[in-house]
Amino acid sequence: MSTAVVNLIDHPVIQTKLTELRDFTADHRKFRALLNEIASLMVYEVTRDWPTKPRPVQTPLERTTGRVLARQVTLVPILRAGLGMADGVLRLLPDARLGHLGVYRDEKTLEPVSYYQKLPPDIADTEVLLIDPMLATGGSGSAAVSRLKQAGVTAMKFVCLVAAPEGIAALHRQHPDVPIYCAAIDRQLNKKGYIMPGLGDAGDRLFGT
Ligand code: PRP
Ligand code: URA
Repeated sequence: MSTAVVNLIDHPVIQTKLTELRDFTADHRKFRALLNEIASLMVYEVTRDWPTKPRPVQTPLERTTGRVLARQVTLVPILRAGLGMADGVLRLLPDARLGHLGVYRDEKTLEPVSYYQKLPPDIADTEVLLIDPMLATGGSGSAAVSRLKQAGVTAMKFVCLVAAPEGIAALHRQHPDVPIYCAAIDRQLNKKGYIMPGLGDAGDRLFGT
């Protein structure tokens, strides 16, 4: 597996919150709060290389030139669990638009099933962050990236919390141009396709289902 496209964000504060998130005693309220907090913290690293452009600004003392993000931003959570990161990211990027991709993986085959798509019409002209807490087999992430490419997106990053080596390899194989950002690379998948040690079923824990 090439790790060239994987950016592991192992900041001590993120690691502390991720450990709390993994704890099976965290209820949906705590899980929701932690997921959003970690997503917020990851934004700094994920957006570090985004281009900026100059913008004149009048301070209380004089006129100067500051810098602002050069391009519009679109956030695309993969439903459902990706929604759990959206507010956290929006806290730092409040002007971002939101697209939605509905993808679930079939419990038996582990194959992704796409069931919903609503994206901003000019998404191709924006910086896109595709977000989902879990990258397991990589099927859902790869399907979502394919959808975004069909919509003309060229500048995108895949942001997750926990990635399995198998998922990183699969996403990289199908979409080597898409960088992956994660807070942890776990050991492996189990027979049912769950990430080990992981944090369980992210959607169920987030929504209390
Ligand atoms: C989870 C998770 C990812 C997917 C990862 O979603 O949020 O989208 O599994 O698994 P994969 O890499 O093997 O495809 P799930 O299918 O449980 O749907 P949900 O978010 O609606 O619960
Ligand atoms: N989806 C989850 O929510 N958790 C896993 O461990 C794997 C896929």
